[in-house]
Amino acid sequence: MNRHQVPLRPLVAEKLESPKPHTEGRFGLLEVSEVNKEYPTPRGALKVLSGISFTLSRGGATAIMGPSGSGKSTLLHILGALDSPSSGHVRLDGVNPFELDERALANFRNQKIGFVFQDHCLMPQCSVLENVLVPTLVSRASNHHPERARKLLDQVGLSERLDHRPAELSGGEKQRVALARALINEPMLLLCDEPTGNLDSKSAETVASILLELHARQKTILIVVTHNADLAAKFPVRYEMVEQCIRQA
Ligand SMILES: Nc1ncnc2c1ncn2[C@@H]1O[C@H](COP(=O)(O)OP(=O)(O)O)[C@@H](O)[C@H]1O
Ligand SMILES: [Mg+2]
Repeated sequence: MNRHQVPLRPLVAEKLESPKPHTEGRFGLLEVSEVNKEYPTPRGALKVLSGISFTLSRGGATAIMGPSGSGKSTLLHILGALDSPSSGHVRLDGVNPFELDERALANFRNQKIGFVFQDHCLMPQCSVLENVLVPTLVSRASNHHPERARKLLDQVGLSERLDHRPAELSGGEKQRVALARALINEPMLLLCDEPTGNLDSKSAETVASILLELHARQKTILIVVTHNADLAAKFPVRYEMVEQCIRQA
């Protein structure tokens, strides 16, 4: 299965009626416990992650570094509930997303998680403002979203670009839109996969400082995968992926 495809779970009544998970004492935490990931391949199972464990609390931030192919994106996709672990647990705010039914999982991702990819992944036909509003289309309380989108775009320095299409922006500006979009639903967890990987050093610096400033302001849990040593150095905790494992750098 492609990691961008999430296993579909049937919407069974008993699941919908099942008691709420036990969350006492776990609010505001990302708990990663003994996560393993193997991909099935024609030549047998390919082990990518082995015994990954760490905890971050609200306001916490970490950078994850490691060579290409070491499993960084795989880990980020599991933390973002876009792919499931082969074994082990992930809990965000006391909830294991992989125990949720399909609808609840989609809602959980929409409300709790913001993702910034290396390639901004903006919708080319939509304006800057519309792109930032996309995640709000499925959320319930909708009254203040345009106001919040404008405010976020102001905070990332793009209030003069609201009507531009992505093709009319620089690379750094596109990533700033992607950052505003990731934050529009006030997620608890912000995951960034090489957010400055395609940018020149000046734009990378601007995106990095905006990212850290917004994190400090919004008190998300921030995890950034990066090859950029200057960006990684700004984080209080750094991890390195080595031979399928994670260790503090
Ligand atoms: N869907 C998949 N099926 C099989 N192998 C995969 C899949 N996705 C990634 N891999 C393999 O897992 C390893 C880790 O990939 P990835 O997490 O993208 O690494 P990184 O982000 O550190 O460059 C690579 O060897 C890659 O080929
Ligand atoms: Mg990657």
